[in-house]
Amino acid sequence: CAPLAALLPHGAWAQKPIVLGFSQVGAESEWRTANTESIKSAAKEAGIELKFSDAQQKQENQIKAIRSFIAQRVDVIAFSPVVESGWEPVLREAKAAKIPVVLTDRAVNTKDPSLYVTFMGSDFVEEGRKAGRWLVEKMKDGKGDVNIVELQGTVGSAPAIDRKKGFEEIIKADPKFKIIRSQTGDFTRAKGKEVMEAFLKAEGKKINVLYAHNDDMAIGAIQAIEEAGMKPGKDITIISIDAVKGAFEAMMAGKLNVTVECSPLLGPQLMAAVKDIKAGKPVPKRIVTEEGIFPMETAAQEFPKRKY
Ligand code: AHR
Repeated sequence: CAPLAALLPHGAWAQKPIVLGFSQVGAESEWRTANTESIKSAAKEAGIELKFSDAQQKQENQIKAIRSFIAQRVDVIAFSPVVESGWEPVLREAKAAKIPVVLTDRAVNTKDPSLYVTFMGSDFVEEGRKAGRWLVEKMKDGKGDVNIVELQGTVGSAPAIDRKKGFEEIIKADPKFKIIRSQTGDFTRAKGKEVMEAFLKAEGKKINVLYAHNDDMAIGAIQAIEEAGMKPGKDITIISIDAVKGAFEAMMAGKLNVTVECSPLLGPQLMAAVKDIKAGKPVPKRIVTEEGIFPMETAAQEFPKRKY
């Protein structure tokens, strides 16, 4: 019988869509939902067949998904690693199978950069620095201690490690800034609220500032502060990261003081890189997302322009 190629119209082999396996962290935040949406719609737009897997914030699920992508022989694997460490064995398996890997949003901790082609996403240390610089400027004329509570992201994740680092790097220049409590809220609203309740119980009116590693935890904490009979944004200055629509709503209501932008709209960039990789074109090892910072005074003007 005739080979399949002979039965297909001319050029049909060349039109076989690129298959991309993508392992997502989960659906823990408004940011993540926007990121998933960006990846799914960009894949559709680019004519790339997407195999999407939600890891529900568990590294073992991501490792399973990557192994299954390798078994299915997808063309490219992309993933946003929930935590930084523990990826080398599975990345070596992908390399042995000659399947290129793209890191999106979060980095991995590895001494072997040949295990991935490119890493695209934000500079999380710089986001932490932006949050710190805003606070230092805001409190520059104040005397006395500034007591800060910190809601960290997922333990061991790149954004939690780096946002802490960048923020501390800036505030350490003045000893009046004191982080009096720091705990993970796992990037979720529910956890942000729960941990803020504990902070309030332990420190009460001593708390001057909340630094939350993402908007969702800040929004959860705002609820806890209100339930404790205090005014978020006034009694406690609140700084968070992401710049999702929910944060703009909180800023317009006067409950959140500032949000540092972290763009989840990585889909189009990812699809462009996947196509370049398949075409054998060079791609930069690091693609950094451009981002701003939005204090509450700018919220009403910026809100209509926000895409996520
Ligand atoms: O990795 C990006 C972070 O993950 C976002 O700041 C947060 O909202 C998300 O869950």
